[in-house]
Amino acid sequence: MFGRQSRRAAVGAVSLVAVLGLAACGSSSDSGSGGGEDGDLIRVGFSQLGAESGWRTANTESVKASLTEDAGFDLNFVDAQQKQENQIKALRDFVAQDVDVIAFSPVIETGWDEVLQEIKDSGIPVVLVDRTVDTTVEDPYVTWIGADFKQEGTTAGEWVEENAPDAKIFELQGTLGSGAQVDREEGFDAVVGDQVIGKASGNFTRAEGKTAVEAALQAYPEMTMIFTHNDDMGLGAIEAIEAAGKVPGEDIQIVSVDGVRDGLQALVDKKFNYVVECNPVFGDQLAELITQVANGEDVPKETIVVDQAFDQTITQADVDARAY
Ligand code: AHR
Repeated sequence: MFGRQSRRAAVGAVSLVAVLGLAACGSSSDSGSGGGEDGDLIRVGFSQLGAESGWRTANTESVKASLTEDAGFDLNFVDAQQKQENQIKALRDFVAQDVDVIAFSPVIETGWDEVLQEIKDSGIPVVLVDRTVDTTVEDPYVTWIGADFKQEGTTAGEWVEENAPDAKIFELQGTLGSGAQVDREEGFDAVVGDQVIGKASGNFTRAEGKTAVEAALQAYPEMTMIFTHNDDMGLGAIEAIEAAGKVPGEDIQIVSVDGVRDGLQALVDKKFNYVVECNPVFGDQLAELITQVANGEDVPKETIVVDQAFDQTITQADVDARAY
């Protein structure tokens, strides 16, 4: 496969003797590229960060539906269960397996320097998916595909500014240190940060969102709105609000991000007030990018997945037609 040859060339000062030595040893990767069992399939190691939310499940389904053998991929998919150490281990395994392309969704932004340097030294190209990294490694990835999290926060903030300028807001943060948390918070707070009376993380899960809101209802009895960084935590918030004898969407308004079916159902049911979409269905675009990277073609440094936003005018038919 051309991509594999091209990245070997990019590794740089490898002596001819060393290259020939590798060939003589008949490594498994060489037999793969030479028409072995995997033929011309692109060998992809994909480290998904977890299965914490409806969004993540939809994203995983989209990736798996697009990176199929029929479409030309040999996919090694590993779920890290929201633990960075699991992701680092998976990435090292992919290097040991000498895959053609490594793709991963980093659970948080920092802590990748060492492993990204190891991948860079191996010459295997990296495609970042969904979230971003903050690293000292130069040119750590070829391309990134995902949503504009900061814009999502800004869009949510602008709705609040226009529709609830007096709201007292509790901000339900996603996994602390993740690109989705950092950027959504930055975008939202830049518009209506002066209305935020408290913050806590619900780690992007329904259960932890519920626990965080139970505590917030005690700590901030004056709260009239929750801005949640994803739908799952917002659904947990509904449970906590109802258990406290209050009406979600009225006594305490809820502004959310994602737009998974359960979140949009809460909007139709008037328990959510506004939802900014974060579209998880970009498996086909990812497959296209990975193919180009493996073939050594030029790709854009970033691909932004387009989002929309929904208010309570959404209909049940819209929700029923939702793909995820
Ligand atoms: O990185 C995207 C975010 O991660 C989604 O908004 C959230 O639901 C998921 O856990």
